[in-house]
Amino acid sequence: MPRAIRTRRVFLIGFMGAGKTSVGKVLAQRLGWTFQDLDDAIERRAGQSVAAIFASQGETGFRRIESAALRELLAEKSGAGLGMIVALGGGAFVQPENRSALDHAGAVTVLLEAPLEELRRRCARDDAGDTRPLARDAQKFAELLEQRQSDYQRAQFRVDTMGKSVEQVASEIEGMLRDVIRPEVEE
Ligand code: S3P
Repeated sequence: MPRAIRTRRVFLIGFMGAGKTSVGKVLAQRLGWTFQDLDDAIERRAGQSVAAIFASQGETGFRRIESAALRELLAEKSGAGLGMIVALGGGAFVQPENRSALDHAGAVTVLLEAPLEELRRRCARDDAGDTRPLARDAQKFAELLEQRQSDYQRAQFRVDTMGKSVEQVASEIEGMLRDVIRPEVEE
């Protein structure tokens, strides 16, 4: 990662259950930055839960709204010189148009990783509301993870979350990003 890249927008990516939202909230708090969850932005935009969007418009409809919500978020100023941590849904980074929008915006991407069984365990444990229709079928869940691995590896940073607390992962990411996080100055 070249030291010249400086940003105040960090996007957490990874599969369902990777811990993007929990880690994102803690990381944002540590940095004094704002936190946004793309699934929440999608639900606000559509006025429906993620599951309801999948049911009424299919995955294609959901991906369209997801890309639009991401573009909107990238166009936002974070305000008051603050940086922004964003948790992306597990499929967002897999869409080439989303990756190129992130690239253009100079976003930094961090992949949160965990083994399949751990991801399943966390999805079963978490109360993620009505946001994970693609986690209902165990076989499909495993296949999707496999299909997405090569795209996930395009993230600029990677952190193994296995056996670590949310605080430990957030602190590890903070350390990794020390050189690429822009100092708190107005743009
Ligand atoms: C999805 C992951 C979900 C949500 C939607 C689709 C995916 O978000 O965006 O159900 O395709 O992996 P989380 O990764 O936050 O669970």
